[in-house]
Amino acid sequence: MDVQLLHSTAQGMVAPGRGILAVDESHPTIGKRFAALGIESSEETRRVYRQMFFASPEIEQYISGVILFDETIRQQSDDGTPFPEMLSGKGIIPGIKVDRGAKNLATSAGEKVTEGLDELRERLEEYFDLGARFAKWRAVITIGDGIPSRSCIEANAHGLARYAALCQEASVVPIVEPEVLMDGDHDIETCDAVTTEVLHRVFSELRHQNVLLDGIVLKPSMVISGSNCTSRASCEEVADRTVGCLRRTVPCAVPGIAFLSGGQSDGDATSHLDAMNRRGPHPWNLTFSYGRALQATAMKVWATNNCDIDGGSAAFLHRARLNSSATRGSYEPAMETATP
Ligand code: 13P
Repeated sequence: MDVQLLHSTAQGMVAPGRGILAVDESHPTIGKRFAALGIESSEETRRVYRQMFFASPEIEQYISGVILFDETIRQQSDDGTPFPEMLSGKGIIPGIKVDRGAKNLATSAGEKVTEGLDELRERLEEYFDLGARFAKWRAVITIGDGIPSRSCIEANAHGLARYAALCQEASVVPIVEPEVLMDGDHDIETCDAVTTEVLHRVFSELRHQNVLLDGIVLKPSMVISGSNCTSRASCEEVADRTVGCLRRTVPCAVPGIAFLSGGQSDGDATSHLDAMNRRGPHPWNLTFSYGRALQATAMKVWATNNCDIDGGSAAFLHRARLNSSATRGSYEPAMETATP
């Protein structure tokens, strides 16, 4: 284990002004998103689409790391450069999704547990050789009638900690991602209580598995109203509750927290992050690790204009720039329409 490397990678991932681009959708997920826009999902369309992001001019000003999928880490740019090399050449850290998905939790209807520990040590060694310096594992917690159960929270927290320990052994920084889903009609108070419980359990398991907290990045969901909740919490309440929940649960040794967007609109994901950073300084850097909230508009522009690379790339850079401002608490809604 190279502790120096773990520290420098983790610090680099959450450096102020920069955040993480998640383009690690599984084949079924990217397939659904492409199909909705009339694009066929093939190895080549996925390569061309993802290359659009990596080749965006000055992406490195806003993006510190990219989460790749197994297929993508083995692909190359048009000129034959392997994607991990292309990214690291721009000072962007390549990362890799290593979980094998959220599967139904036995005996608990409606709940999931993330799998993927099998052969993980060997897979991490290979990914390190391919250039990955961080990894991602996403656990999913659903709020509903009588759930989440204690067994679901414990099973997922245990899996995250076992994964994190294996990553650090391989000198790969683990992104620890416990996502409390927005789906449902629960209110923000319920989300706050569940997220607090989940994070307490995750950090307790990380300690049991001897994970170095200064060599991880936490990727939580924000504390937010359920997507079908009739009383929507304001941006200010989301920021207050999310920061409060993190202060109660996340040790200050953790260098950074990079939020997922989880189905929020592009604008909400940016303004929530901005509002939290306006409340700083915090013990940890607060940044983004967005998938949909960085890609949605870019994918639409690309797909609906006959695979328009320049248009898609410009839409992505615009979003990345706004989220970069949000990491400093200097985003203004007027920037949404301003030309750079
Ligand atoms: P979203 O930002 O679309 O939630 O995706 C982030 C991610 O990596 C989910 O695991």
